[in-house]
Amino acid sequence: MSETQPEFKKVALIGTGAMGQGIAQICAQSGSLVYLFDTRPGAAEEAQKAIKDQWSRMAQKSKITEDQQSTFSARLISAHSLEALSDADLVIEAIVERMDVKRELFSKLESIVNSACVLVTNTSSLSVTAIAASLKVPGRFAGFHFFNPVPLMKVVEVIAGLKTVPLVCERLTAYSRQMGHTPVRALDTPGFIVNHAGRGYLTEALRIASESVCDFATIDLVLKDQAGFRLGPFELMDLTALDVSHPVMESIYHQYYEETRYRPSYITAQRLAGGVLGKKVGEGFYKYENNLKQNPPEAPAPVIDKLPPVWVSARAARRASLLQMLKHFGVVIETAAAPSNEALCVVAPLGLDVTTVAILERLDPARTVGIDLLFPDESTKRRVIATNPATREDMSRSAHALFAMDGKAVSVIRDSGGFITQRVIANIVNIASDMCQQSICSPEDLNTAVTLGLGYPSGPLQFGDQLGPDNILETLMNLQTVYGDQRYRPSPWLRRRGALGISLMQREQP
Ligand code: NAI
Repeated sequence: MSETQPEFKKVALIGTGAMGQGIAQICAQSGSLVYLFDTRPGAAEEAQKAIKDQWSRMAQKSKITEDQQSTFSARLISAHSLEALSDADLVIEAIVERMDVKRELFSKLESIVNSACVLVTNTSSLSVTAIAASLKVPGRFAGFHFFNPVPLMKVVEVIAGLKTVPLVCERLTAYSRQMGHTPVRALDTPGFIVNHAGRGYLTEALRIASESVCDFATIDLVLKDQAGFRLGPFELMDLTALDVSHPVMESIYHQYYEETRYRPSYITAQRLAGGVLGKKVGEGFYKYENNLKQNPPEAPAPVIDKLPPVWVSARAARRASLLQMLKHFGVVIETAAAPSNEALCVVAPLGLDVTTVAILERLDPARTVGIDLLFPDESTKRRVIATNPATREDMSRSAHALFAMDGKAVSVIRDSGGFITQRVIANIVNIASDMCQQSICSPEDLNTAVTLGLGYPSGPLQFGDQLGPDNILETLMNLQTVYGDQRYRPSPWLRRRGALGISLMQREQP
């Protein structure tokens, strides 16, 4: 909480709902005098009280001093007309998400505020350029996109519209830092950074579910235990509720003119229509009792008297560590070029499904299973084994028992190009790469925005670099082969860096 001279001394918050209150709180904490204005009578006073109550709780917990509490409180002023905002240096709009209402508001403001005043919108889905289009001076207008709850979500997108003057973004960036937030700079494009980069996680999980690869809960468990996500995609959709998340998926898809990478799913459309919205209605992808998620039971690993010998494909990803794991389990490992007639054949492809690998390598599909080793085994809490439509039940049970021998959780799923984690991670990295290719933001800001805004364990490009851009590229190319879907076509950013063997963070000169 900086107490230096704030970049904007007088800030007006228009719309004092959830977002307006949060933004007003951090503006006042950074030293600005804050006007609160809302068209609903009494709303500004209610907001003022709510923010003061928040400071009182913070003081009780010794997060701020009593002196700070009273200093901050004295900085909040309820305004009862737009005219009362005339001496503001910065006006932040956080009203209803409607283009016509926002445009009308800014047109009125233009004739009220002084010529140096900066005007910003907190919109999450409308075009900043389009809101500014009706202004006489669009150069002073920008997007300033915070996340809910504002004081805790310490990232803000600073968005330049087509006509925004660079100095405006620089001032907003400096002010963000004074508020203790990390600013990231974005071009005015649908979803800006965070809501755009977040497309890969949900839509690919929905595609996996729509192929009946496994149930929703397994997809969640796998992505949490293998890739380190805090919430699985279906848990996340249950929390945000489908009346919020499905329209966002549709909106971004259409705004990018039906780009296949963002294609939504009938699964969420149908659940939305049926009112199965998520936790807030007690039923979503999970059932909730007394507000608690009910987890479906997991199948225990089968007990097998005698495991078959195991043969590992010469082309398996992380083959040396896979062989080490099998050695540690104490099973018989076949070392000949081709498997015996009894062997369980283990393949570990990137992007390809088990069926394709079994056919390509002339293996008996009845005895062939796949294991996902995109992430090193030692960094994961769960192994994922995929069967194929011809896999014999005894072989699938043996594989399950085998890979659970050291007590690690194992999920057995149906055949899927790229299992679960590969598909989802490759999509996240690909979408992020294409955002860099489009110059929507810098690679650094992309990673920062996604880790702070979405809580991912790594930024998308960091994921790509850790796992190897060449491996992600191979995964995507193979996914495209398996599914014939343009959705998986690699972005030129990833294609070039993967082929050259260089970091996904590397920009091209000049
Ligand atoms: P909210 O419904 O809690 O608050 C909106 C407030 O604006 C209400 O108090 C309403 O009375 C007032 N209002 C409506 N029209 C007005 C007008 N013409 N002039 C003055 N006040 C007016 O909404 P919330 O959630 O605070 O969102 C506000 C804006 O922030 C929206 O544009 C939304 O897209 C954006 N946003 C919301 C996020 C969220 O998670 N809720 C995240 C990021 C952005």
